[in-house]
Amino acid sequence: MRDALSPLAVGAADDLRQAAEAARVHAYAPYSKFTVGAAIRTASGAIYAGTNVENAAYPVGTCAEAGAIAAMIAGGDRKIVEVMVTGPGTAAITPCGACRQRIREFAGPDTPIHAGGPGGIKASFTLGALLPEAFGPAILGAADV
Ligand code: THU
Repeated sequence: MRDALSPLAVGAADDLRQAAEAARVHAYAPYSKFTVGAAIRTASGAIYAGTNVENAAYPVGTCAEAGAIAAMIAGGDRKIVEVMVTGPGTAAITPCGACRQRIREFAGPDTPIHAGGPGGIKASFTLGALLPEAFGPAILGAADV
């Protein structure tokens, strides 16, 4: 089974999904036309959202998750307890490899990561399932947040 988490009850994490979708409306994705929203719940209970911001110099564009993490840090929070990524279509949109690593900096292996869209949650995983044997702060002798 692909999902690392049991299916969520209908409506679970809907606040997170709605925050991601609200950010996705503002995506700047003129090149790919692929709009992505991300929302993070932190240990404090706050929710931070972001969306993708593309650039004519393609590699300079940033992912929705990166925007949400930047908002979280600017808001004074550091501990991620739940993540939602939303996008168009029926496929579950999971964080790209780089964003899995970005999330790892502020989350542990059991942190749920949901892939959703306008209609609800499509699939749920743990960070550990998406980024096994991750490189993290401990390898540098630093503590997790
Ligand atoms: N994108 C994200 O924002 N997050 C992901 O995890 C996957 C991809 C964006 C980057 C680019 O603007 C568009 O989706 C197509 O790759």
